[in-house]
Amino acid sequence: MPATPPASENGRPRPKGEALAVLKLLALAGADHTPVVLTSREVGERIGMSQQAADRYLVALERRGLITRSLAQRRQRLQVTPAAMDLLRAEYHAYHRIFEGPAKLNYSGKVASGLGEGRYYLSQPGYVVQFSERLGYTPYPGTLNVRLSGDALRKASLVSHWTGIRIDGFQASGRTFGGATCFAARMNGKACHLIHPDRTHYKDVVEFVAADCLRDRLHLKDGDTVALELEES
Ligand code: CDP
Repeated sequence: MPATPPASENGRPRPKGEALAVLKLLALAGADHTPVVLTSREVGERIGMSQQAADRYLVALERRGLITRSLAQRRQRLQVTPAAMDLLRAEYHAYHRIFEGPAKLNYSGKVASGLGEGRYYLSQPGYVVQFSERLGYTPYPGTLNVRLSGDALRKASLVSHWTGIRIDGFQASGRTFGGATCFAARMNGKACHLIHPDRTHYKDVVEFVAADCLRDRLHLKDGDTVALELEES
């Protein structure tokens, strides 16, 4: 029987159990911003494993690019990498969901016009079929752009940790159409989806798709403030 491939993140096996405990211990000690100096024995004692086992985990974590090690006398300077912090953040979100339920976000922004590309993209059959199947409706051809600033921008970035509904990229008419992730949302109470393209030139703009023309349904014009609610699915 073929071996089951390990669960991976960006092609890298996800550390489990003890390896994760080592990362958590180091991050708690502040090793995300300043190296902490510890022996393998001290690491082992703190998570209830032998010095040899702790050493093996440290070597493996270093090999996977999740920690950096340098020798300091008979001890070692240990620092966790941004990739390790991403893994810990994913754990944190899983626990947050277990104890607090699906995350919700509320923020507001201002309606804006874009480059008029949304209509072209949302009319592509390759997207339309996926939207119909995965969102449950055929979207109005276009995306409504909402410009965000300050705290709303920070809040909006939090959805990058959510799972979302995947729309896959595809090839058609000799060109490549990129993928995107959608999140269930409400704009002034009206059901819609936030769409986050894999590649976007916008930094402070979020885009929404809906079954209807949101401008018509909600009587919106550029510069109007809209209230946005998002809930993790
Ligand atoms: O790039 P831009 O947002 O200006 O245009 P678009 O994505 O091609 O969408 C065409 C028009 O429909 C724009 O005015 C959007 O704001 C609007 N729209 C809407 O009101 N409701 C939607 N569900 C999608 C687009």
